[in-house]
Amino acid sequence: MKKLYMVSLGPGDVELLTLKALNAFKDSQAICVPTKSEDRSFGKSISYKIVKNALDVLKEEKEIVPVYSPMRFLQEDWEKEAGVILQTLQKYDTVSFVTLGDAGIYSSIYYLLDIIKKEDEEVYKNCEVIAGVTSFSAASARVKKPLCLGDMALHIKPINPRSKVETTEILMRPKVGMDTASLGDGDFYTFENMYLDGECITPKKISRVKKYMTLFINFAKRLS
Ligand SMILES: C[S@@+](CC[C@H](N)C(=O)[O-])C[C@H]1O[C@@H](n2cnc3c(N)ncnc32)[C@H](O)[C@@H]1O
Repeated sequence: MKKLYMVSLGPGDVELLTLKALNAFKDSQAICVPTKSEDRSFGKSISYKIVKNALDVLKEEKEIVPVYSPMRFLQEDWEKEAGVILQTLQKYDTVSFVTLGDAGIYSSIYYLLDIIKKEDEEVYKNCEVIAGVTSFSAASARVKKPLCLGDMALHIKPINPRSKVETTEILMRPKVGMDTASLGDGDFYTFENMYLDGECITPKKISRVKKYMTLFINFAKRLS
């Protein structure tokens, strides 16, 4: 069966790659790396530098496949990028595609996965997204300042939005036994004991909190 990893690279330092990311590279025969250069060279690609450093750490050599990513936010560009990934998967059984920071934060991987889902449902189902360190969690650590502490909230905003801004809400630190009605409605997921014993991910808001290690995400409506 074909396997696609969508690997978060962190903000730039190879030491901020996760073990899961390194294992995905070890497991892959080819790594698809975005480049903004039309000639598919990697001179200006930060992602390429991180991947090369990671392969040096692993003492491994892999085929690196350039994926021209002009960052114009055009469907036709994402279709070409998804096409390169799917072509690479025809040649190899296991392939990684990489993205800077964490894949959940303003990454094109979800535009690509929408296309991959339509083109090849099996590849989509068997695809794994590897989480990474975001630029802002690294920034907070660099200056030893918390992003949120006590009763603070955290806002992440696009500086130049192209359309109406929809907001994802992350709700943390619940009280055990609380009724969740007050959290409102929306596209909720509940994550309990993630990666721990008794992990449970529910694609809705559970009505009562059973464990402190519970977080809710009310995902923003996707406009594009
Ligand atoms: C397309 S977004 C990708 C965000 C990324 N997925 C993340 O988790 O941080 C690119 C923006 O992230 C921020 N960014 C990413 N890496 C950064 C770094 N090493 N230093 C400063 N800002 C960075 C900048 O605001 C940049 O314009």
